Amino acid sequence: MTKTNQKPRIFSGIQPSGNLHIGNYLGAITQWVEMQAEYNCIFCVVDYHAITVPQKPEVLRAKIMETAKIYLAAGIDPKRSIIFQQSDISAHTELCWIFNTITQNGDLTKMTQFKDKAGVDFNSLEKGLSDSWNEKIFNSGLIKKIEKEKDISLALNSAHEVIWDFVQSFKLQFNKVGVGLFDYPVLMAADILLYNTDVVPVGDDQTQHVELARDIAKRFNNRFGEIFKVPEVKIKKEGARIMGLDNPEKKMSKSAASDANYVALTDEPDKAAKKIMRAVTDTGKDILYDKENKPGITNLISIYSNLTETPVRDIEKKYKRKGYGDFKKDLAEIVKKFLADFQKKYNAISDKDVRRILNEGADQARPIAEETLRKVKEKIGIK
Ligand code: AMP
Ligand code: TRP
Repeated sequence: MTKTNQKPRIFSGIQPSGNLHIGNYLGAITQWVEMQAEYNCIFCVVDYHAITVPQKPEVLRAKIMETAKIYLAAGIDPKRSIIFQQSDISAHTELCWIFNTITQNGDLTKMTQFKDKAGVDFNSLEKGLSDSWNEKIFNSGLIKKIEKEKDISLALNSAHEVIWDFVQSFKLQFNKVGVGLFDYPVLMAADILLYNTDVVPVGDDQTQHVELARDIAKRFNNRFGEIFKVPEVKIKKEGARIMGLDNPEKKMSKSAASDANYVALTDEPDKAAKKIMRAVTDTGKDILYDKENKPGITNLISIYSNLTETPVRDIEKKYKRKGYGDFKKDLAEIVKKFLADFQKKYNAISDKDVRRILNEGADQARPIAEETLRKVKEKIGIK
């Protein structure tokens, strides 16, 4: 059986929230599909991660099924790989708790994803304070008044007010952030380390989280004795960061405000084609891959290259004498065909089959996770 042989192991997962898009597909899932031949694979629907931001229960329930179906339609083969739902194996949250006790606040406040989602950045408190200082004391002209009138009391009161306001607004913002959102990377470390994972294939926004999993593994091993493998991250060369169609400066995101940002895997193909035609491009007209100066067209080239497995240089050559319009029209057709094929497979999978596959997957994964947790409990002295 392939599942129990000596091949190295990979583990990865996607949150069942929002609309899975071609960024998730090209950045993460296509690597998984390819890696099935050479690795023992475990793919997880990480529902406990999804609830770190509010979810509607009935929508979440549907998204869990949808995410698993997307794995299957993309070519994850349950005969070769384990697919399961995170909350079906309680070892994940148990190990997360234990890891919480060897993780420091500073490990988590530096996480880019936390800073973005929570809107607080402890690492640039000084900059925040000096920005509001500049704004309220210098740019407002207050400093001139203080200098002219030599008013020490005004100077002190103004300084006090700036610092007070800054601290208040930071506290207000921090205090409303959910603890789950903060702790999210520790749960992810538990996911990865429970399975003696060698490699974690993800999009490049997850590198920092995998780095923390590596640190936690090393820290635990140092303190309590060798248990954990230190996993490697695997990022695709091209496609690791697909950018938003409406703003190529930021990554394509499930939680984007506008659905013009992404092509969802469940988008109606004609609608998706229109999104490509409307995608933001750059000034100029040449079809050139240049992340710095032409982020819009570069992103579209990257999507084209990934979907058709054509090298970027060949695409540039093919469109040498053509403009954005021709290129976009072709890409729109490619996306349309890709989605039509994908959705045909997706629609052929029944909810009943998905539930059965997830249950069987959990049954296969559970003994591996429980064995690791048993060793951990022994090492720390609670068993
Ligand atoms: P998430 O949507 O945050 O659950 O991400 C699931 C997987 O898709 C992770 O491996 C991400 O790194 C990857 N991913 C998410 N957004 C993108 C993107 N815009 N480009 C490439 N990969 C992405
Ligand atoms: N945090 C990942 C994301 O948002 C999802 C995830 C949770 C994951 N646990 C994981 C990815 C373990 C790889 C391995 O994309």
